[in-house]
Amino acid sequence: MKLKETYKPTEKVSLTSMANIDEMMYSCGVEILHPGGLEKTFEMADDCKINKNSKVLDIGSGKGITAIYLTEKYGCNVIGVDLSSNMVDYAKKFAEKKGLSQKISFINHDAHKLPFDDNSFNVVFAECSTVLMNKEKAFREFMRVTKTGGYIGDLEMSWKKNPQQKIVDKAYKIWEGFSTKTFDEWRDFYEKMGLTDITINDFSDKLRNMEMLYIKSLGIKGILKMSWYMLRNKDLRKGMKEYSKFFKDNKDYIGYGYFVGRKK
Ligand SMILES: C[S@@+](CC[C@H](N)C(=O)[O-])C[C@H]1O[C@@H](n2cnc3c(N)ncnc32)[C@H](O)[C@@H]1O
Repeated sequence: MKLKETYKPTEKVSLTSMANIDEMMYSCGVEILHPGGLEKTFEMADDCKINKNSKVLDIGSGKGITAIYLTEKYGCNVIGVDLSSNMVDYAKKFAEKKGLSQKISFINHDAHKLPFDDNSFNVVFAECSTVLMNKEKAFREFMRVTKTGGYIGDLEMSWKKNPQQKIVDKAYKIWEGFSTKTFDEWRDFYEKMGLTDITINDFSDKLRNMEMLYIKSLGIKGILKMSWYMLRNKDLRKGMKEYSKFFKDNKDYIGYGYFVGRKK
């Protein structure tokens, strides 16, 4: 299912903002901005035991695709939270168009401070968004709003092995505040947060190249649109080149996976 593109990127696409790069990708037709696509979304959802009675909170919900597919597949209720009002507007329109507004809503809010009561959700779900957050602070909130016995699932780019400091610093710089953990560190972190029954799904070797995934989902029209943006914007050209180089230079370090734990 391809959505008719109504989303418009912010006027000035600047490399100084990771959010603008995401918006540009979305505007060119990339629907899902996380490694592994919907296949891994559904695997993580199954590990979080999502079902038709679940109330799910989708953190950094972007264009709303995950929320919509989760509702379509499992019949669950989803609230998406995103820092970008553009994304939230788009996601709301998308849910309306799919006739799912009764089951899904989106709010424009910072996930570090969630506007929900304690123990509100069966599942807190995040994909490719906590790498942009203060994880201690964000997860404390996720724990607070998750019901006892509920699940937290997070799918993120991770380190396959401990990177040198210069790699960590470079990732932080090019993705504006990006930080992640090794798979062992994610496990320790989940334990430290008080989660139990932890599942770590490392699919790094099944997903070698994130860029190829994006290019495939762009199609001819999207590639032309992105080329047009790049032609017009020197910063964007420079930035995309830098991203590509970073992935290529550090392929031995960059991994992908998801982590699920249950609140005791
Ligand atoms: C790479 S996109 C991923 C979007 C979506 N989860 C997906 O997988 O396609 C990251 C999203 O996280 C959102 N985000 C970043 N920091 C956030 C925060 N502190 N609170 C809420 N959303 C945030 C961004 O606005 C963006 O939509």
